[in-house]
Amino acid sequence: MTARVIPIVNRAVPGALPRIPRGAVAPDGRLADARGRRLHDLRISITDRCNFRCTYCMPKSVFDKDYPYLPHAELLSFEEITRTARIFAAHGVEKLRLTGGEPLLRKNVEDLIAMLAGLKTRAGEPMDLTLTTNGSLLARKARALRQAGLRRVTVSLDSLDDTVFRAMNDVDFPVRSVLDGIAAAQAEGLTPVKINMVVKKGVNDHHVVRMARHFKGSGHIVRFIEFMDVGSSNGWRMDDVVPSAEIIRRIHAEMPLIEHDPNYTGEVAERWRYADGTGEIGVISSVTQAFCSTCTRARLSTEGKLFTCLFADAGHDLRALLRAGHSDDEVAAAIGLIWSERTDRYSEIRTAASAAARKIEMSYIGG
Ligand code: GTP
Ligand code: 5AD
Ligand code: SF4
Ligand code: SF4
Repeated sequence: MTARVIPIVNRAVPGALPRIPRGAVAPDGRLADARGRRLHDLRISITDRCNFRCTYCMPKSVFDKDYPYLPHAELLSFEEITRTARIFAAHGVEKLRLTGGEPLLRKNVEDLIAMLAGLKTRAGEPMDLTLTTNGSLLARKARALRQAGLRRVTVSLDSLDDTVFRAMNDVDFPVRSVLDGIAAAQAEGLTPVKINMVVKKGVNDHHVVRMARHFKGSGHIVRFIEFMDVGSSNGWRMDDVVPSAEIIRRIHAEMPLIEHDPNYTGEVAERWRYADGTGEIGVISSVTQAFCSTCTRARLSTEGKLFTCLFADAGHDLRALLRAGHSDDEVAAAIGLIWSERTDRYSEIRTAASAAARKIEMSYIGG
């Protein structure tokens, strides 16, 4: 687990910022952490608010009207986010994912996308620029997002059964509107659309095969996610997890599957394709088959803290550096140091005690 907050933020003299250890930079100039893992993705949370109250993420009992969401002045501005992303790109990041809470709730999100769409990878290519949304505002926003330069979207959808879906989002939001959002994303070319279904035993696991069948042949890629012990408020229990192997078994029994190679090293989802050539699905098995050994993801919170693991309990305050007038090189050096010292592998060493420990909330850091 991460957790040390490096005191770089307290060094007032720019020249006193630490240097990246030599061994942390590979010959191609890209960073590697203490376990040899490259930095490939930056996941940027742009709001800690959401209009859903999914029971496994923002249970109403905790996220009520008195919940201390971040005040606006605490949020990174679009300029600060873009500057930080540019520095990460120089360190080798090739993929940017906007998350939340619900990222489409952030005012003028299209303007941020347009700014990020102008960034390039080290190789001078456009970034893979995407976001994860609950789909509630997608039908309305898909065109503007595409025009701003978004390349694709991932939509969360936990059931096609309206009653179950309304109960899981806990704000009585209808499944039809999310399906309309998915259709709008497809029409605008925000493809392939990926669909994330968090599977919770006894709640929606009986809808797994129906979900797979519904999207088979559509070009969309459904990913079944094991319910995870993120945060401290979702009441996670191992008994509620349906192992991905079981999900694959159930789907395979009705629609034969063949295992598929990953798109790139460190891909979160394990890919399976239908034997009849009608598309693919994925499973994300953070609980039963941890993938920390290839984890190349850094996370930037809404107020500019850098987290090196989804399950961390503390982050590194980049915003303080940005606002203290440090140069890009200095901020890059700080990020380099943080990444080079990274040892996180939470899912590989999960215990009952760590699952119950205090951790940051998923709605704060994004998925
Ligand atoms: P693609 O680039 O489209 O393959 O997406 P992705 O898999 O990187 O992103 P997505 O946001 O769709 O991730 C799917 C889900 O996997 C997240 O919502 C999390 O639930 C989970 N996940 C993503 N990254 C990690 C990680 O580093 N650790 C763990 N434990 N879970 C992760
Ligand atoms: N376990 C697994 N996935 C989760 N998500 C949110 N909370 C959890 C959890 N406890 C998923 C959402 C969304 C993505 C951001 O993370 O459904 O697809
Ligand atoms: Fe909102 Fe996504 Fe969390 Fe559901 S999972 S409450 S849609 S942030
Ligand atoms: Fe990466 Fe997730 Fe493992 Fe943390 S728990 S190191 S975020 S794969």
